[in-house]
Amino acid sequence: MKERLIFALDVDSYDEAQQWVRILADEVGMFKVGKQLFTRCGPQVVKMIRDAGGGVFLDLKYHDIPNTVAKASVEAARMGVQMFNVHALGGGKMMRTMIEEVNAATIQEGLPLPIVLAVTILTSSSQDDLREVGIELPVERMVPRLAALAQHNGLHGVVASAQELPLIRQSCGDDFVVVTPGVRPATADRDDQQRVMTPGEAIAAGADYLVVGRPISKADDPVMAARAIVKEMTEAVA
Ligand code: C5P
Repeated sequence: MKERLIFALDVDSYDEAQQWVRILADEVGMFKVGKQLFTRCGPQVVKMIRDAGGGVFLDLKYHDIPNTVAKASVEAARMGVQMFNVHALGGGKMMRTMIEEVNAATIQEGLPLPIVLAVTILTSSSQDDLREVGIELPVERMVPRLAALAQHNGLHGVVASAQELPLIRQSCGDDFVVVTPGVRPATADRDDQQRVMTPGEAIAAGADYLVVGRPISKADDPVMAARAIVKEMTEAVA
């Protein structure tokens, strides 16, 4: 079960990232590296995590013309990340071109195929924000529509809040990977997360992987906090 727990490495220096990797390498399956840390430290932070035995979820949410996204994605696969993502709003052609090139490169170069995820609608976007950019459909229709588009074009899963899980399962079935942030153990601070689920609830609702940051990083004992989350995840499927 610990392979299904992803720690959000939301720090801004290589040294701090390395400290967390040393502390948590045996407790979680993957470390999520986002735009801030990657822009600051680059591929060497990915290498450091891999050298410590950790998996990497490269959370850069590519969105560009198909050729550019495909080339960047091939580089992500070459870095050996276990998971990365693109914006489904980039469209079916972008996703299809990208996955074809990643598949071809991994076969040709003997690399493991990463899990490739789509981001549907960011949970920070309100209905008004969407209308402003010309999207009139309600979020609860856009999310399953974009998830199905990603699946149809060969992607392996999506990043989705626990609240969106039933919609995604309905449109994409059980074999589609769902990675869920916004998870809070019952005893933890909610921080700035609005609608949260506990780790047990999220796993029971069908999440494949959980992304957890501050409930671990801000805990008095981060190792114990991570272990408690894994225990709760395990008990949810027992
Ligand atoms: O500290 P916390 O557990 O809230 O961290 C959650 C991580 O998941 C952060 O890196 C955050 O940016 C990311 N995330 C999220 N909600 C989304 C998508 C990503 O919290 N809808």
